Amino acid sequence: MSLPWLLLLLHPIFSYSFIYNTFKSNHHNPNLTLNGIADITSNGILKLTNVSTHTIGHGFYPDPILFKNPDTNKVVSFSTAFVFSIVPRYRKLGGHGLAFTIAPTKDFIGAQPSQYLGLVNVTLNGKASNHLLAVEFDTVQDFEFRDISDNHVGVNINRMKSVNSTNAGFFIDGNSTKQDLCLHSGKKIQAWIDYDADKHQLDVTLSIYSNKPSTPILSVPVDLSPTFQDYMYVGFSSSTGVLASSHYVYGWSFNMNEKAESLDLDLLPSLFQFKTNKKRFRIWFMASIISAFCIIVIIVAVYVTTKKFNNTEVAEYWEHDLGPHPYSYKELKEATKGFSHKMLLGFGGSGKVYKGVLPDSKMDIAVKRISRQSKHGEKEFLSEVSTIGRLRHRNLVQLLGWARNKGELLLVYDFMANGSLDKYIYSSNNPKKILTWDQRFKIIKDVSVGLLYLHEEWEQTVLHRDIKAGNVLLDSELKGRLADFGLAKLYDHGSNPITTGVVGTLGYLAPELTRTGKPTTRSDVYAFGALLLEVVCGRRPVEVKASPEELVLVDWIWDKWREGRLLEVVDARLQGVFNKSEVMVVLKVGLMCSSDEASVRPCMRQVIRYLEGKVPLPEKLGPSCDDAVKGGFVVEIKEFAPSLMKMKSV
Ligand SMILES: *[C@@H]1O[C@H](CO)[C@@H](O)[C@H](O)[C@H]1NC(C)=O
Ligand SMILES: *[C@@H]1O[C@H](CO)[C@@H](O)[C@H](O)[C@H]1NC(C)=O
Repeated sequence: MSLPWLLLLLHPIFSYSFIYNTFKSNHHNPNLTLNGIADITSNGILKLTNVSTHTIGHGFYPDPILFKNPDTNKVVSFSTAFVFSIVPRYRKLGGHGLAFTIAPTKDFIGAQPSQYLGLVNVTLNGKASNHLLAVEFDTVQDFEFRDISDNHVGVNINRMKSVNSTNAGFFIDGNSTKQDLCLHSGKKIQAWIDYDADKHQLDVTLSIYSNKPSTPILSVPVDLSPTFQDYMYVGFSSSTGVLASSHYVYGWSFNMNEKAESLDLDLLPSLFQFKTNKKRFRIWFMASIISAFCIIVIIVAVYVTTKKFNNTEVAEYWEHDLGPHPYSYKELKEATKGFSHKMLLGFGGSGKVYKGVLPDSKMDIAVKRISRQSKHGEKEFLSEVSTIGRLRHRNLVQLLGWARNKGELLLVYDFMANGSLDKYIYSSNNPKKILTWDQRFKIIKDVSVGLLYLHEEWEQTVLHRDIKAGNVLLDSELKGRLADFGLAKLYDHGSNPITTGVVGTLGYLAPELTRTGKPTTRSDVYAFGALLLEVVCGRRPVEVKASPEELVLVDWIWDKWREGRLLEVVDARLQGVFNKSEVMVVLKVGLMCSSDEASVRPCMRQVIRYLEGKVPLPEKLGPSCDDAVKGGFVVEIKEFAPSLMKMKSV
């Protein structure tokens, strides 16, 4: 054997490199391995996803690449450059993003779309066995992963929560100010990712030009050796969710141990290729101007003659449909008889609610009309749509769809034949509106199950943040359903939520909320406790018209408890017809939930166990589940009796 061959065997040469200026098959490069809905367009662009919702696309270099030097077992330096663009379905909203990926596989079995970018799923997320490096170009802010914005670049190792991330941008040499860059503008963006094996540093650099700026936008100190296996695959992964973008990669270079070649943007294919010479272009341009002029004349003529444009929807193309069921404004207007006063069901937290009948299907709906002036603006609207669109439970009011008109937002919900619970609790002595004890108890249990789903059973914790009788709706069978998730915000299980302004309704606001402003599942439980007491007593948590000792419902019930006359608080309209032990359970649970001390309130799972009689109520009312697990404490019942003073200060 000759000497060079021997050297080669002893020291595998780390000079692996490739450059794609097109992904069309040619003799320079092997075809990429495609997965999911990924495809190569006829002019050689890698199209990872289109604007269909909930899809995944993968495009990977077909062969595994040796990343570790067998002598040292260390990952060697590598470098890559690629050009991508993101064209969203709705101009202002990307969904979800793409990631340059290095992984031990090209298959990603079990990977989920949406926030998982087609790389992992809820159980795989965070596992060391993923051996995964992903540099994400993310256009949706997932609170679950603490995303900093809906336009960021992040370095992810084995998990979707980034090691570090930064808002997309780039530097121009000689200028130290970061230039803003919108990832989903549809423009070509070049990205460079460089790993320095000596410094243990991963740099990400962006630009809208062919040349690489000398300053990266993100530098993450990391040793990839523990993460990587010897052989790894490199490529791109992308996904869409409720929101969707087309994700494209135009060119790609990769180099082991050396800097990757930058790509020349002019040499790459384009999405729309007009191969026109100047003369042809001029003719085309003139023709366009003339036809545009004709069209305008026709439109003006139509407008003048019919003047029927009063109701025209503002035709921003992305606004026509978002989520699973888009409706047209016209359809909803017809359904609600032109938002007639007669169809008005009530005033929600953020707008008027109308009854409607869909013209085609004759289906009953409720339309929440959110005015432009309302604080419940576009961002909240979109968070509501994308969150509720995915929540499904028999004790929640299902969001069916939405529409827009001139900045006004319309949400379409299942129609609940029997309206909201508050009408029954507070209203009149109309005998038809008096719920029996069995009905009340059933509704309480329904709501508790719905709230448990939000808190613990969905993939993320969802806080309701405005539980009250007005937000409990009754369907045709008087089944209770929680409504209005406009205030719900997502956050990780078991960690502190993002601080936001205090929202909620007087009498349902947990005392710590006014101090800290941080809503938690415990503040939801507080409001739920107030609801329980109301349903039993048939009055508001704070009744201004009541006598001073009855002003604050919770305090009044505590007083009666101490006097041993608890059953006197029960709604007189029940005329004594109720199951005493059930009423006692509900009142006690209501008091436990209404504790001033958040840590002694039970969690919803515990509440349900009490309500179902599966677990007896403690004689001494004790700590909640979480604290019990931690070996918590037991509190004498009088120690957490709320003080009238504090309640009044709310
Ligand atoms: C996206 O691609 C898939 C698979 O090629 C196709 O079935 C679907 O119709 C496409 N969606 C759109 C909106 O073009
Ligand atoms: C994250 O990256 C930014 C920008 O590169 C840097 O300023 C910051 O210190 C980094 N944070 C951490 C925790 O590494």
